[in-house]
Amino acid sequence: MLPLRQPFDVAQDDSQADAATSGVPVKLGRAIVLTSGKGGVGKTTTTANLGVALAKRGAKVALVDADVGLRNLDILMGLESRVRYHLLDVLEEKVELDEALVRDKHFSNLFLLAAAQSREKDEVNTESMRDLIEELREQFDYVLIDCPAGIEMGFTNAVVGAQEAIVVCTPEVSAVRDVDRVVGLLGNAFSPKLIINRVRPHLVRKGKMLSVEDVNSILRLPLLGVIADEPDVIVSTNKGEPLALRTDTETAKAYHSIAARIAGEDVPAPMVEYKETFMDKLGSLLGGRK
Ligand SMILES: Nc1ncnc2c1ncn2[C@@H]1O[C@H](COP(=O)(O)OP(=O)(O)OP(=O)(O)O)[C@@H](O)[C@H]1O
Ligand SMILES: [Mg+2]
Repeated sequence: MLPLRQPFDVAQDDSQADAATSGVPVKLGRAIVLTSGKGGVGKTTTTANLGVALAKRGAKVALVDADVGLRNLDILMGLESRVRYHLLDVLEEKVELDEALVRDKHFSNLFLLAAAQSREKDEVNTESMRDLIEELREQFDYVLIDCPAGIEMGFTNAVVGAQEAIVVCTPEVSAVRDVDRVVGLLGNAFSPKLIINRVRPHLVRKGKMLSVEDVNSILRLPLLGVIADEPDVIVSTNKGEPLALRTDTETAKAYHSIAARIAGEDVPAPMVEYKETFMDKLGSLLGGRK
């Protein structure tokens, strides 16, 4: 593991540094890494949906798949057939960044930089990755970086150019523990914020799943929002059409609210309702069938 804090601290307020050295104020975009430690909690799904939701708000957004060797983001965005070059091609200066950026099918202000499928995570040069993210910040309002699972080189390279972190956690003890570890590694520099994903209200009600309060009593992070465990998310993923393209379901709306909160709007964090319903109460009265 690289010494994490020092290089990131140096990278913090580089917009002012640029302005100071060139004399021309450069307004850099925000690079936000989506991370978790644990695999399969919904980082890629959340990256795709928040990318769409931010683009729908008119922001210029780049999605960077930093999961080298296991790329997925192109599939979730329905862009796999358009990918010609990938992250390592750019890092190794085989192609220009503009050539590797794939424009989204729905939004002309949304772009993807795909990961390499047949390369290894430790083939990424950390310094080059940091420079690349800075180059993207010059062109985009938001650079969302989809981090691989784990806390090894893939994690280091995914976070090196970011100034902010969103940690995605499912209501499982193992996921909470991994997020706790990741947040410890990130330190305060990344102002980590939390998305709790795949909450199942009926399991929370039955006391069989951690509640949002349980999770955050351990993590104590600013909550961006809660996303339900929702078949529509899986269906849309399989179609390559992120759910946030829609606005007519609770979960789609939740992604849009989270995007609004990221953009600094004062809207409530989307929650998943898991209060006991009348039918639950009736079931328990009739013999504990909850
Ligand atoms: N809110 C949700 N409701 C239902 N299914 C979901 C939800 N979020 C993610 N999933 C599903 O969970 C699975 C894992 O999601 P995803 O690939 O985004 O996780 P990940 O954290 O990026 O995984 P990895 O660590 O392997 O990169 C996928 O099948 C996805 O469709
Ligand atoms: Mg992923």
